[in-house]
Amino acid sequence: MTRVQALAALRNEWSDCKRCGLCERRTQIAFDRGASHSKLLFLGEQPGVNEDETGKCFVGMSGQLLDATIEFVKIDPRDCYFMNPVLCLGMRKPQTKDLKACWPRVARQIELVDPLLIVTAGQISTNLILKRKGGAALRPIVGELHMARFEGQVIDFLRPVIPIWHPSFVLKQGGGTAEEGDPTDLAATPTEDEFIKAMRTVKAVWRRLRQEYYGRRA
Ligand code: URA
Repeated sequence: MTRVQALAALRNEWSDCKRCGLCERRTQIAFDRGASHSKLLFLGEQPGVNEDETGKCFVGMSGQLLDATIEFVKIDPRDCYFMNPVLCLGMRKPQTKDLKACWPRVARQIELVDPLLIVTAGQISTNLILKRKGGAALRPIVGELHMARFEGQVIDFLRPVIPIWHPSFVLKQGGGTAEEGDPTDLAATPTEDEFIKAMRTVKAVWRRLRQEYYGRRA
């Protein structure tokens, strides 16, 4: 089975999922966006109404800001693959039980895409992937390079991870509130410049990894 077929089978297997309460409001699951051979994987938080409508990840305002920033720092969009730690939009943010229910799908999807670098956007996906406590603050580790271990179907594997701000959190700046679970106040809200700075770090690490990977294969 090819990677494309395996991902299609995984999507199919989860398309009627009722493993957590988030399924109640969804029209359809939002599985991913981007080509399956893309090696820079962005993990968001949760589909919104636009994602629910289209079945694709990061197609609303957050996605537009993310895409624009990717372009601004000159990362090739064709290298980018987008997915979320849960498949369904909800009236609430994903809770631990939702994340746990969806985890086998997340781990398998990451294993199949086999990214060179994972970018976790926001507190929820960062804490999930780096196995931190749910409420652990994001700010101190934004733009840092970490390693995460995954249990694969065949073998365990390690992947570099860089946390960035969630774009919706950047969009809220000025009128928004501090990120949930990070009660340090509005000072925690990132500016657009901080978002770009974190993405420039992603770009620098990505450029190196990409060169090593494609250079070796060329
Ligand atoms: N859209 C997504 O697909 N994920 C997010 O985290 C936000 C918007």
